[in-house]
Amino acid sequence: MTTATTLDSGAANLQLGTNVLYLSKKDVLDLGITRAEILDHTRDALIEHGRHRYEMPAKIGVHPYPEVFYHAMPAYVPGKNAVGCKWIECYPQNPAKFSLPQTTGLMVINDVESGVPVAIMDSTWVTAMRTPAVTVLAAAKLHPAAETFGMFGCGVQGKEHVRYAAEAMPSLKTVYVYDTHEAAAEALIAELRDEMPFTLVRGKSPEDVVKSSEVLGSATVILKEPLAVVKDEWISAGQTILPCDLNTFWDPRTTQRADKYIVDSIDEHELFAEMGYFPDGLPTIVAETGEVLADVAVGRENSDQIIVNSNIGMAVCDVVVGRAIFDRAVERKIGSTLTL
Ligand SMILES: NC(=O)c1ccc[n+]([C@@H]2O[C@H](COP(=O)([O-])OP(=O)(O)OC[C@H]3O[C@@H](n4cnc5c(N)ncnc54)[C@H](O)[C@@H]3O)[C@@H](O)[C@H]2O)c1
Repeated sequence: MTTATTLDSGAANLQLGTNVLYLSKKDVLDLGITRAEILDHTRDALIEHGRHRYEMPAKIGVHPYPEVFYHAMPAYVPGKNAVGCKWIECYPQNPAKFSLPQTTGLMVINDVESGVPVAIMDSTWVTAMRTPAVTVLAAAKLHPAAETFGMFGCGVQGKEHVRYAAEAMPSLKTVYVYDTHEAAAEALIAELRDEMPFTLVRGKSPEDVVKSSEVLGSATVILKEPLAVVKDEWISAGQTILPCDLNTFWDPRTTQRADKYIVDSIDEHELFAEMGYFPDGLPTIVAETGEVLADVAVGRENSDQIIVNSNIGMAVCDVVVGRAIFDRAVERKIGSTLTL
């Protein structure tokens, strides 16, 4: 039995099957969900994934231009009563061409028992929050005592990666940031410097950042042909590398020779490889991120291992966070009801 067919959600009652709650980006922000809460929800989603208690087909997509993708990202996570689908677009040229974000999208959350849609929300915020949450949860598990972190890309994701690193990696003393667009790195530092518990430094060059950091992240662009900005010879024993932009930024030799190549979803990575990403071949995957967080698989085994952990984004995280947003919106009476 559904707990209620009517949810008192503000402007009008939300009647299952009759109307749906629409949450704009501002509505989602007004809910005041903290990064600590997002970390908890994302950890839960990853652990459910790691214990294989989910349903999540690999993304299906359409591709109007060569470097562009739209992805449908459905998932069901029974343990979190979360089901829904994110419909997301990635246009790498959007910032330069239209002053629009690379990544935009919408998410639908459904009622598990009846299936009816209960919420439609902007998914830009969810994506900007859950992606760095995955990176730092994995970084904290794979490299718990790291004092240095290097972040490539200082856009939406880069900035949130730094904020999330402050939440989940308490031993950090220095964070290096680098962006080809120098103003982006400077803006990030100017905005976050006073709030962060670590020193923020603008990296002089990719090589300088790599050689100064134990843990490295990248959120730049996703392209089929690797840019290989970071040369393999700069990488040293013991480093942990966490791209959220697939294989674009890194020398393919590094991912191929890493002691462990761990990914959030094997299915998703195989799908991207089939689409033409990883032209040098998909490295051998030893485990999934959720399995490491759930202690189903072993992460780092010694301080010399080079570990690459690629997280391309999973719908299980989106729908679990989306469900939490919906529940909070109902509780706080935020959002507009639309007739189905
Ligand atoms: N894995 C996931 O779940 C996930 C989710 C969202 C976005 N992403 C990916 O993360 C990346 C960043 O997204 P965003 O929303 O932050 O984009 P953004 O446009 O806001 O920021 C990207 C930044 O990277 C910089 N950049 C580009 N090429 C660079 C290079 N060679 N070296 C250094 N800096 C470079 C740009 O100047 C820009 O400041 C994209 O590739 C996006 O597809 C991944």
